[in-house]
Amino acid sequence: MADKIAVTVDEVFSKLPLEQVSLIKNYLTLLFKWHATSNIVSSSNEEYVIKREIFDSSILSKFISVSSITDVGSGGGIPGMILAILNPNKKVTLIDRKSTFIDFLEIVKSELKLENVVVEKQDFFDNKYSINSECTLFKNFSNKKIAKMDFENKLKYLIETVKKSKSVSKVYILTGTPVLQLSKQFHEDYKMNVNKIASPYFDTSRFIAEVFL
Ligand SMILES: C[S@@+](CC[C@H](N)C(=O)[O-])C[C@H]1O[C@@H](n2cnc3c(N)ncnc32)[C@H](O)[C@@H]1O
Repeated sequence: MADKIAVTVDEVFSKLPLEQVSLIKNYLTLLFKWHATSNIVSSSNEEYVIKREIFDSSILSKFISVSSITDVGSGGGIPGMILAILNPNKKVTLIDRKSTFIDFLEIVKSELKLENVVVEKQDFFDNKYSINSECTLFKNFSNKKIAKMDFENKLKYLIETVKKSKSVSKVYILTGTPVLQLSKQFHEDYKMNVNKIASPYFDTSRFIAEVFL
């Protein structure tokens, strides 16, 4: 398993500094080791996760110009851990409400010696919680509270919840095609850029939505 990870990471991230390549391999080795018993990533297919999830996270990284980021519902650390590895000078906070993920993320932080990472067990919808970063990101965030909403209302709800935290000026969403179908009203209410991730590995594209608060 480790060889497959190393070969694929070398192929996909051949232009990155060796130290970052090594950290990505170490992170993925831990991720799939934990996944075998705790189901912490969306797929067991290492090649798919690297070429889709990790590659897309590395593209998202190029958009983030601010110095502090909170990844909400980070789960196994995608994209938060990748952003932290690629941006050692930015503070990356990963929050999740489930202990399984928090325990794993703490181990990654400690084993990879990622001093710019903060791991917090938090419920994003807790009224007492306030995000302490300049930008917030969501990837595959799901929760009972918003599960029945359509994409647009879900997005509005997440943005309005983030707005209560005064330090946040931007929200990034790494998502699929529904972001292209938002209403005229939504675009009047929110200033937003949508950027397509050109994937060399898949025919289907994902998008990075950048919402300015
Ligand atoms: C589908 S997973 C996505 C994980 C990761 N972002 C990814 O794309 O692989 C959604 C995550 O959101 C977390 N979550 C759901 N509701 C939450 C809440 N209210 N506060 C914090 N985390 C929450 C879940 O525990 C889960 O880890």
